[in-house]
Amino acid sequence: MTLRDSRATIDQALAWAVDTLRDISETPRLDAEILLAHALGWSRVRVLAGVRETIPADALQTFRALVLRRAAHEPVAYLIGRKEFYGLEFVVDRRVLVPRPETETLIDAAIEWARLHFAPHDTLLIADIGTGSGCIAIALAVHLPNALIYATDLSPDALAVARQNIERHGVTDRVTLLCGDLLTPLPQPVDLLVSNPPYTILDEIDAGVRLHEPHLALDGGSDGLAVYRRLLAGAPQALRPGGALMLEIGATQAEAVTALARQAFPAAVVRVRCDLAGRDRVVEVLHVAS
Ligand SMILES: C[S@@+](CC[C@H](N)C(=O)[O-])C[C@H]1O[C@@H](n2cnc3c(N)ncnc32)[C@H](O)[C@@H]1O
Repeated sequence: MTLRDSRATIDQALAWAVDTLRDISETPRLDAEILLAHALGWSRVRVLAGVRETIPADALQTFRALVLRRAAHEPVAYLIGRKEFYGLEFVVDRRVLVPRPETETLIDAAIEWARLHFAPHDTLLIADIGTGSGCIAIALAVHLPNALIYATDLSPDALAVARQNIERHGVTDRVTLLCGDLLTPLPQPVDLLVSNPPYTILDEIDAGVRLHEPHLALDGGSDGLAVYRRLLAGAPQALRPGGALMLEIGATQAEAVTALARQAFPAAVVRVRCDLAGRDRVVEVLHVAS
């Protein structure tokens, strides 16, 4: 199927895009609708309500270019410059990992723990290690108004994106960005450490992800565990007594990360939480001693 004309209806353009994206995307129709809405500057609902309308030539050209980039595996979020996470919209581009829905499990776990252990007026100190777009730190700041959060990253480029998101969500007074390696930039121990560290084995991941998303955000070394080892080795000194540590994990890493956590925190409770798809997703280390 081709889309040669400078004139096409929404129906025709969507059919062409679905055909073009069928082999590279699990959601070709959704991708096409989002990209067309973006090219037109309309909502998706407006696009779907106007399937017989003719697309203006400039919007059609923009749409065609976006679909071809998507066909080369570029994530939709980079193409439109934003991604929804935990009900909030984040600016994203190639400098940061696209926030994933499974990371919302980490937010649920952190909020639950915070509400159980801290009264609404108590100040709670949190650190988000490897903040990327800032999605974890900001979602926690929005939902825990008593929290002060350090958000660290080794990448100054990622922190520039996080800065935009912190401003966008009005939490600049409670989220402090720090540049540096893992826990080293933290000025003091915290009550809750959270992290979605790089945990993939680069050779084993989806080509589209490897091609477009930052390797610093993905690369967990030859066994995927390199960052967990370093993070867990330093974590006992970075936590206040009674504090907690929550780490996102890959679905096959529960046993290995749990063992590392038990080694670092022999007296703590270590447990695994599943995501909505039932896969192991978060290792929680609770009741940390001094
Ligand atoms: C998997 S991404 C997570 C990004 C974001 N927190 C999220 O959940 O979408 C990991 C992040 O850790 C950062 N990172 C990688 N190595 C790091 C290190 N040694 N110290 C601090 N941050 C690091 C990367 O730049 C990236 O932003």
